[in-house]
Amino acid sequence: MGKAILGIDIGGTGIKGAIVDVKTGEMLTERAKLPTPPPALPSQVTQVVKTLVDQLDYKGNLIGFGFPSIVKDGVCKTASNIDNSWIGTDLNSMFSQALGKQCIVINDADAAGIAELQFGEIGNVKGTVILLTLGTGIGSALFIDGKLVPNTEFGHLKFKESIAEKYTSNKVREVQDLSYKQFGVRLSKYLSHLEHIFSPSYFILGGGVSKKLAKYQKELDLSTPVVAATKLNNAGIIGAAYYAQEAK
Ligand code: BGC
Repeated sequence: MGKAILGIDIGGTGIKGAIVDVKTGEMLTERAKLPTPPPALPSQVTQVVKTLVDQLDYKGNLIGFGFPSIVKDGVCKTASNIDNSWIGTDLNSMFSQALGKQCIVINDADAAGIAELQFGEIGNVKGTVILLTLGTGIGSALFIDGKLVPNTEFGHLKFKESIAEKYTSNKVREVQDLSYKQFGVRLSKYLSHLEHIFSPSYFILGGGVSKKLAKYQKELDLSTPVVAATKLNNAGIIGAAYYAQEAK
């Protein structure tokens, strides 16, 4: 067995975590999930994270986090689906101080992408791979010959009247009550746009709706193969734990 590291994925609706074997990418505990507190201010979120660490009875000294914003050198730079007060927060320091453990924070989609390339079915392929997480927003991870280009924000590409994540995220599907067919048609238009710009070898879809790929796959009119993340919506947890161990 490899090292057991806690991975935490902070999302717009839920804060999820599990202890991960960072050698195999397997989760050693059930996934614990607590609702993201409204309003999701830094102090409230930190409280929920503390509860999660206690629930999982984690005794290790290192925690990896996936966070839903641009995270540059551990500092939160943007706030699309989180409170604006996060901008400028040194997440690494804040969580480390609050939890008394070393905390390493990266973008949530980058974490999911790292897990997929490390432990997923496609593996570390040559060429360009784009992972998209379809959740409250759309997160992206871009890999070139297995190397991550961090903090891409393809969910924020100008698209239709607004930006892509306001057109084809999972939240948009729910709020607008789109059928899977309608959702697939929208997603196809967005992926075609990315395909034209990047000529990727693969698209990998993460987030809860990746489990339902079979329901909209036939609407995806692309020449690039589209696969669901092997780790589905646990990829963020697994990748955050793995990255922390590598970066510490
Ligand atoms: C944020 C990204 C994040 C994605 C998924 C977007 O709104 O800008 O940084 O990765 O949501 O949570």
